[in-house]
Amino acid sequence: MDGYFVLSNGVKMPKIGYGTYKCTDGSDERIVAMALEAGYRLLDTAAAYENETYVGRAVRESGIRREEIFLTSKVWKTELGYERTKKSMEASLERLQMEYADLFLIHWPKPSPDCENWKELVQESWKALEEFHAQGKARAIGVSNFLPHHLEALMETADVRPMVNQLELHVGYMQEAAVQYSKGWGIQVQAWSPLGRRRVLEEPVVLRMAEQYGVSPAQFLLCFLLQQNIGVIPKASSMERMRQNLQLPAMEIRTEDMHMLRCLPQIGWGGEHPDLERDMKKI
Ligand SMILES: NC(=O)c1ccc[n+]([C@@H]2O[C@H](COP(=O)([O-])OP(=O)(O)OC[C@H]3O[C@@H](n4cnc5c(N)ncnc54)[C@H](OP(=O)(O)O)[C@@H]3O)[C@@H](O)[C@H]2O)c1
Repeated sequence: MDGYFVLSNGVKMPKIGYGTYKCTDGSDERIVAMALEAGYRLLDTAAAYENETYVGRAVRESGIRREEIFLTSKVWKTELGYERTKKSMEASLERLQMEYADLFLIHWPKPSPDCENWKELVQESWKALEEFHAQGKARAIGVSNFLPHHLEALMETADVRPMVNQLELHVGYMQEAAVQYSKGWGIQVQAWSPLGRRRVLEEPVVLRMAEQYGVSPAQFLLCFLLQQNIGVIPKASSMERMRQNLQLPAMEIRTEDMHMLRCLPQIGWGGEHPDLERDMKKI
């Protein structure tokens, strides 16, 4: 499998990355170092994960050249607006101890579901991301959890189109409208919680099909997304799982099975939606 997507500005982004949310659990950089050792070259972090310091240290101490690593960070939803977003990205670079990130994302389109001026906030934030991009402090810029109406609002005043949209996507929660809309604008889609944070790993249909194709359920779920040209950033805590998620077999899921999997009723949704109060039952 060709290991990269080429973003709309020509930057190459690995198809598979390592998700760092809660991976460090406030301890240190060892788990991130392990992911680099396993072969991951995309690390997904965020200001909100409070682990940028560890991620940056693991990269610096790995001995791997900075250009070989693709590092994503994100601006948290409380930091929307031009000045706050700029400060947030500067602070991320400071914690990472890096001159640039490969990708900065706006983490969520709204500070809260009932926020009335979210459009202006997003448009202002985007100006800050565009500035960082122009200055070379972000090789690419994008968004996360943006549905079509959020993207439309951003693009009303944007000079540069987002290059990536990172969404919760997995078997049982495919957000087809958001995926198709993003793809239609040439925006690369990337899946967060590609394993549904374990919630879909034991679904009977996943277990049955994984067995038929002779792969683990996690590998099956990742192949399902990659086959739709959707990037994946699974998180794992052991070398064995890290390798399993990165070293995927070259296999093709039959069209019939793909259709069936894409049309399942909702399963494993994490409970977060930018326009709705959080579903606390899902936590
Ligand atoms: N943009 C956003 O709003 C947003 C939101 C959430 C997450 N994210 C990003 O997406 C990344 C991934 O999402 P996630 O951490 O929520 O969930 P995930 O990657 O879907 O699932 C992680 C869980 O799956 C388990 N796992 C991993 N590989 C496995 C395997 N081969 N077999 C069995 N179990 C396996 C892990 O267990 P162990 O850890 O015990 O190995 C962990 O409990 C995050 O780390 C973060 O970087 C972004």
